[in-house]
Amino acid sequence: MKNSIGTSVILTLFGESHGPAVGAVLDGLAPGLAVDEAFIADRLSRRQPAGPADTARVEPDRFQLLSGVYRGRTTGTPLVIVIPNENVRSGDYRALEHVARPSHADFTAQMKYHGFQDPRGGGHFSGRVTAGIVAAGAVCEQALAAKGIRLATHILRCGGVEDAPFTDVASEIGKIEGRTYPMILDLGEQVEAAVLAAKQEQDSVGGVIQTGICGLPAGLGEPWFDSLEGVLSRAVFAIGGIKGIEFGTGFGLSGMRGSAANDPFRMQDGRVVTASNHSGGINGGITNGMPVIFNMAVKPTPSISRPQQTVDFAEGKDVELSLTGRHDPAIIRRICPVVTALVCVVLCDQLALRFGTDYLAQP
Ligand SMILES: Cc1cc2nc3c(=O)[nH]c(=O)nc-3n(C[C@H](O)[C@H](O)[C@H](O)COP(=O)(O)O)c2cc1C
Repeated sequence: MKNSIGTSVILTLFGESHGPAVGAVLDGLAPGLAVDEAFIADRLSRRQPAGPADTARVEPDRFQLLSGVYRGRTTGTPLVIVIPNENVRSGDYRALEHVARPSHADFTAQMKYHGFQDPRGGGHFSGRVTAGIVAAGAVCEQALAAKGIRLATHILRCGGVEDAPFTDVASEIGKIEGRTYPMILDLGEQVEAAVLAAKQEQDSVGGVIQTGICGLPAGLGEPWFDSLEGVLSRAVFAIGGIKGIEFGTGFGLSGMRGSAANDPFRMQDGRVVTASNHSGGINGGITNGMPVIFNMAVKPTPSISRPQQTVDFAEGKDVELSLTGRHDPAIIRRICPVVTALVCVVLCDQLALRFGTDYLAQP
């Protein structure tokens, strides 16, 4: 029953949606890494609700660094981040204690924790817990940026609206970061309209998001079970709502011929590069030095207000459920910074494994 990820840099999450706080323990980071609290606050603000297409539960995300940071730098000992829950309304959930919200984790939590789980607002399964990921990831992102490694996640597709895919990750990161709806093209209003249309019909929508990473050295990853695709997939599948992943051209490769799918190698300024990047920057589980690019399927938010068929597992009977409470009709905007953050933690771990724990702190 562990809630940690990583081998050298290890992230542990704690907290429940309606408990006193959520947060993260980040252990194994090199000493001496710069920690800018304003940057952590900025990353947390990107996960916060930003309008009528997001949940009405707005948390201020006032975080506290309890340990592991001294005079603005990591000490190398466990870094503990606590983010209090300040806007809790558990009354919305009282009637739901034994009613399994369809496609939520209520029933599976009951099966695993035998009724001892905190059911309020989804408890430990809530999207609220991802605030800890974002804060910890922001610390890792600063360390990666110092090494010239940059990344972003954008909404590629949602409600019939299609963003441009990454073609030049380094220049597109800035565009994504400048928008409330993380997208390369300025299509946020159209996505918001599609989400609100679904909400109007007491429904929700999902979509596809895409992460791009540039500046990674070639040679990162392992050939078999700890392939970079494997460790990244394991991480992002921890985030509630992500149901699929593909690297590079992914499933599209299955319909192509080798002559079109292969990424020809060539020399550029004394470096080996590939002319195309259908592989998504990974061959044999190991980075080839091209941008690492992957897409993820995000399911529609399970909490919808239209009546749904389900069961009361305490009474053992079928019931109809009409949900009230505060929910995101789409989580696609808010999940992007969560993915970026978790990928930052994974990359710090991978770099520490490959080049040593102090690598990130070296100039
Ligand atoms: C940032 C974030 C916010 C979320 N907000 C909600 C929400 O308001 N309502 C909801 O039903 N699910 C929400 N979720 C999704 C649930 O956590 C997720 O659907 C559930 O855990 C089951 O996911 P799974 O089928 O991928 O395991 C949110 C997820 C994230 C990452």
